Amino acid sequence: MTEPERDRRAPAISIRGLRTQFGRQVIHDGLDLDVRLGEVLGVVGGSGTGKSVLLRTIIGLNRPRAGTIKVLGQEQARMSAAQWRRLQVRWGVLFQNGALFSSMTVAQNVQLSLKEHTALPQRLMNELAALKIELVGLPADAAGKYPAELSGGMRKRAGLARALALDPEILFLDEPTSGLDPIGAAAFDELIRSLQQSLGLTVFMVTHDLDSLRAICDRIAVLVEKRIRIGTMEQLLQDDHPWIHEYFHGPRARAALGA
Ligand SMILES: Nc1ncnc2c1ncn2[C@@H]1O[C@H](COP(=O)(O)OP(=O)(O)OP(=O)(O)O)[C@@H](O)[C@H]1O
Ligand SMILES: [Mg+2]
Repeated sequence: MTEPERDRRAPAISIRGLRTQFGRQVIHDGLDLDVRLGEVLGVVGGSGTGKSVLLRTIIGLNRPRAGTIKVLGQEQARMSAAQWRRLQVRWGVLFQNGALFSSMTVAQNVQLSLKEHTALPQRLMNELAALKIELVGLPADAAGKYPAELSGGMRKRAGLARALALDPEILFLDEPTSGLDPIGAAAFDELIRSLQQSLGLTVFMVTHDLDSLRAICDRIAVLVEKRIRIGTMEQLLQDDHPWIHEYFHGPRARAALGA
């Protein structure tokens, strides 16, 4: 898709004037964000600035105080329960802590949302789970293993297989490479990029990982002062907001980006 073509299409996610708060603590205020169809958007910001809350708000796990959120053209607040159910199957989520059920095998974890949202026969669900497990680069015998029997990197892949179970259009990832060694993290980045390209996914990825931002993100959204500043890496390198400047020009950035 060329840039002008992409810009003419409705965004995958469109947020206007978002305000979220817990008690008196305001997390987002007047936040606007458009995530383009088919892009990999990296979301960064200091710890506790509200990246995970933003993700959870977009997928309806946290109710905003004000503002509108449209996902795939549909506005959250205006949907019936049936419409909401149909929309929910169009995205997949890998939460910050992985959140696999420890008492279930990998295959059972992957099948959870299939069971919830489809009436497929068990044999077909087994086949679909095996396919997703292969898709994320896990060996076939991982299907019958419990999360505790997998390495950290394998658990992330299992979580990704679960997020892909319903063939989503949007993939939400919350710090998918945290806790992985640099080689494991780079391999995971590559996996996300290749899945995004082959499946045409839109990816909303919260990350602290500068290598991931450089390697796979088309644009970067920075959460500062309760709002989003968005741009390409090149554009943000020119941004003179103090936090953004420190983030992209500090010692870790110089090592990762050579900036
Ligand atoms: N359910 C909740 N109830 C009350 N406060 C909450 C809730 N969820 C998050 N918060 C608060 O909202 C703020 C933002 O949290 P969030 O988890 O989004 O941060 P984050 O940017 O993802 O940080 P990190 O990079 O450490 O993951 C924090 O101050 C947190 O304590
Ligand atoms: Mg978080």
